[in-house]
Amino acid sequence: MSTLPIILIPDPVLKEVAKPVGIVDDDLRKQMDKMLESMYAAPGIGLAANQVGLLNRVFVMDLNSGSDNEEERTPVCMVNPEIIWRSEEPSIWEEGCLSIPEQFAEVERPKTVRVKYVDYQGKEQEGEFSGLASHCVQHEIDHLDGILFIDYLSRLKRNMIVKKVAKMKKNQDIL
Ligand code: NI
Repeated sequence: MSTLPIILIPDPVLKEVAKPVGIVDDDLRKQMDKMLESMYAAPGIGLAANQVGLLNRVFVMDLNSGSDNEEERTPVCMVNPEIIWRSEEPSIWEEGCLSIPEQFAEVERPKTVRVKYVDYQGKEQEGEFSGLASHCVQHEIDHLDGILFIDYLSRLKRNMIVKKVAKMKKNQDIL
């Protein structure tokens, strides 16, 4: 299966709010399959629709993405995800993003979240996520709202990262 090119900052599509999905059909499943393949190829643990230039509320994740054994993969697809509960207790994790290559920074978020979503089969689901999974889910839902992890950093830090990625794009001519 072919992979989709991943869009890097400062492309404006990454700042757009994605629209809710009406129905989970074969076309949407095809999109999710392609997004998963693109995420594994990158490699990364999460990928939101905005990052491949699609503006529907869909993301894929797999915390075992880095596993050498494909059988150990644990793909999760979320359509129209919605955080319905957040813990007061915070958690700090070093986050990165496929749209902001090779840049990492600590981000504080609620430690645990409860999320309502529609799955790959079109069934309504609810799940609770903690630690890395919680950071990943919140990071991906942020993407669907046009928010990047660097938006939580100081302007100085954010500008530094934006400049580094711009320089990298220029030098490697990756776009
Ligand atoms: Ni990201």
